[in-house]
Amino acid sequence: MSGPNRPVVYGLNDIILCHTQISHVDGHLGRYRYRDHDAIELAGACALEEVWCLLLDGRLPTAARREDFLREIEALRAIPPAVTELLPGLARLGSEADGIAWLQSAVCLLARALDWAPVLDLDHTVLRRQVLQATVSAPILLAALHRLRNGLRPVAPDPALGHAANALYMMTGEPPSEEHARALEQYLIIAAEHGMAASTFAARVILSTGADLGSALSGALGALSGPLHGGAPILALEMLDEIGAPDRVEPWLRERLSRDERIMGFGHRVYRTVDPRATTLREVAARLGCERLDLTRRVEKHAAVILDEVKPGRSLRANVELYAALVMEAVGLPRSMFSATFAMARLVGWGAHLLEQHAGNRLIRPVTAFAGGPVRPVPSLSQRGRPHG
Ligand SMILES: CC(C)(COP(=O)(O)OP(=O)(O)OC[C@H]1O[C@@H](n2cnc3c(N)ncnc32)[C@H](O)[C@@H]1OP(=O)(O)O)[C@@H](O)C(=O)NCCC(=O)NCCS
Repeated sequence: MSGPNRPVVYGLNDIILCHTQISHVDGHLGRYRYRDHDAIELAGACALEEVWCLLLDGRLPTAARREDFLREIEALRAIPPAVTELLPGLARLGSEADGIAWLQSAVCLLARALDWAPVLDLDHTVLRRQVLQATVSAPILLAALHRLRNGLRPVAPDPALGHAANALYMMTGEPPSEEHARALEQYLIIAAEHGMAASTFAARVILSTGADLGSALSGALGALSGPLHGGAPILALEMLDEIGAPDRVEPWLRERLSRDERIMGFGHRVYRTVDPRATTLREVAARLGCERLDLTRRVEKHAAVILDEVKPGRSLRANVELYAALVMEAVGLPRSMFSATFAMARLVGWGAHLLEQHAGNRLIRPVTAFAGGPVRPVPSLSQRGRPHG
């Protein structure tokens, strides 16, 4: 079949792009894995840096490898002065809620300052190092931008702290409690990777052209910023603000759906059951004693029933963003940084995909089915004023 009669899969639903060994999301069983391990089990048992090692290098590190990897990370924490000099100007641009856009600009600056070359002929180990450097640098850049915007001096990372604890420390200026650091660490593990998300696809498409890592990550960050993807956590929290009290849950949801508006923090392209990330983050939120946990549970319960009524057969359930917002709020992250924190978590997942794409690259270039009219002779300028006939 060719032309407009060829079947088009809008949204590329269920289209298989490539083989991967990085991760798999089972939308029916409500499970997902990183390499050979269940992702939720990893979040319960491992440190974030061990999960990075698994995603980038294929297996969990031994004790000795873990030490080497931590040393490698430490060496990548220095931000080039050419970038730090430009951060005060960047921090003044846009609104503070543009955290992902800041990160996007900062990653591009990093790529230019470090002269990251197009990947077409780049050595794989050089690309891996760049991926790790982008991942390690993200919270340093974000925290500096947030603090500069608020008239505060940036805080340097503390070599004694892990990535998650440092992210909180650099943002707030206070060493975090172990409880908060571990909660954020578990969120960063849970959100590190999730199959062929729109942002991951965007990154792979860009890298497949042979472009540099900065371009691929910038494209991914742009894709993630949308409200249907990584922009949802703040909207989920705003929904809780608007609902306010338990007795307003049901009328609020019904009213919103009667206007055919979406309920943020619900639904997923792949999951047909509760997103396992939501279940785990609900537990983390309970452990942190989140104030609005009961209200959120009530929203979760009622939304499932009402969405089944209004959108029968879709099985729209809570997704990661509903409880991610509660956890990020509880550990003391500013709301304006929620989506950017999600982006910061996902850098390593994008990086793993980009390394895989690089190892077996083929230009990604789909086709479209032309749905316009037949080819006509090109009219002269004077003929163009007349109606087509
Ligand atoms: C994530 C999301 C984009 C996935 O969507 P999808 O599987 O591609 O489904 P579609 O956008 O094609 O929507 C299918 C139907 O379900 C409805 N729907 C999907 N999610 C919905 C939601 N959260 N609230 C209300 N209706 C929803 C759509 O309106 C559509 O209805 P229709 O068929 O009557 O037009 C979607 O569920 C959504 O917008 N969720 C809210 C945003 C969010 O939480 N994003 C974070 C994802 S982790």
